[in-house]
Amino acid sequence: MLPMWVADMDFRSPPEVIEALHKRVDHGVFGYTFPSEELEDIIIRRLKKLYSWNIKKEWLVWLPGLVTGFNIACRAAGNINDDVATFVPIYYPFLKAPANNIQTLTEIPLVEKNKRWTIDFEGFDKAVKENTKLFLFCNPHNPGGTMFTEEELLKFAEICKRHDLVICSDEIHCDLILSKNKKHIPLASLSPEISERTITLMAPSKTFNIAGLGCSFAIISDEKLRIKYKKAKEGLVPHVNLLGYTAALAAYKHGDEWLEKLLEYLRGNYRVIKEFVARTPGLNISEQDATYLAWIDACGLGLEKPAEYFEKYNVGMSEGAVFRGPGYIRMNFGCSRSILNEALKRIKAGIDDLT
Ligand SMILES: Cc1ncc(COP(=O)(O)O)c(C=O)c1O
Repeated sequence: MLPMWVADMDFRSPPEVIEALHKRVDHGVFGYTFPSEELEDIIIRRLKKLYSWNIKKEWLVWLPGLVTGFNIACRAAGNINDDVATFVPIYYPFLKAPANNIQTLTEIPLVEKNKRWTIDFEGFDKAVKENTKLFLFCNPHNPGGTMFTEEELLKFAEICKRHDLVICSDEIHCDLILSKNKKHIPLASLSPEISERTITLMAPSKTFNIAGLGCSFAIISDEKLRIKYKKAKEGLVPHVNLLGYTAALAAYKHGDEWLEKLLEYLRGNYRVIKEFVARTPGLNISEQDATYLAWIDACGLGLEKPAEYFEKYNVGMSEGAVFRGPGYIRMNFGCSRSILNEALKRIKAGIDDLT
């Protein structure tokens, strides 16, 4: 089985990350620890350089993972029986977070327009309920790969403001940009007013393939919201482990060149997938701006569970239905070109057997 599902990559992390981890392990003492000043400073400088976003050190809240981060956001922004809204299709742990916190979920469908997944603003505005307290937002979007534009983000934030929603903006995929001419815009960087109601979640985990080391952070500018957030995690959320901090620092300090090369490679892989989809009847794909996760429309094949079908051909992909996109498959292309080509060959064999 070729594993093209869970969102991590087959590539080794930047050599400087591996070296830093070796050095830290050689130290031999593995007690409790805090993030270093150097790591916090480097994040502050990075956000300023990439997005002209000036954050303060005290806005950072360290987390072992983003799934933890948005579950805590549900607890911090609302009470039991309150409602949480999100756009679907969506990375499936978003769908579970409200129920984990004894809250309800309002699912608002994204729409595909001109081969791009985007927001139906009117539908969104109408769908928000009286007791909706939080919006779980994902930008760049998983699945679908949309990087929302400044205009879209402002419109989205305006509706959230009208309904007085806290926004949890999961931006874990913000470095994985396929569209060379586009730039990620952190929602909270758009204005102090938007920042006030936003919990931004970021991490080096997807970017530098260190997800297993569990090191991420929230950025919360509003003091009251930050206190609530910290309170909600108290006694439940463990410290970030010291190897996570070590890898994060080395990645942010030395990883930029590695990341550029990675992005060129991923762009090539995405092109290969698009060419394959274009010559394969029954498949479609939109123009994705970001992520290494291809969101392929396989509805034309007439299969109820396309991912399950392709498992018989030894390609393991994620079933779209799990993300609320039945008939779709999500294919991880963070792998070598030869593995990708082999996976596509197997998919082709499966499709040929249908006719
Ligand atoms: C949008 C999004 N958020 C969060 C995660 C997982 O984050 P973590 O492993 O830090 O909990 C993923 C992983 O695929 C993701 O795609």
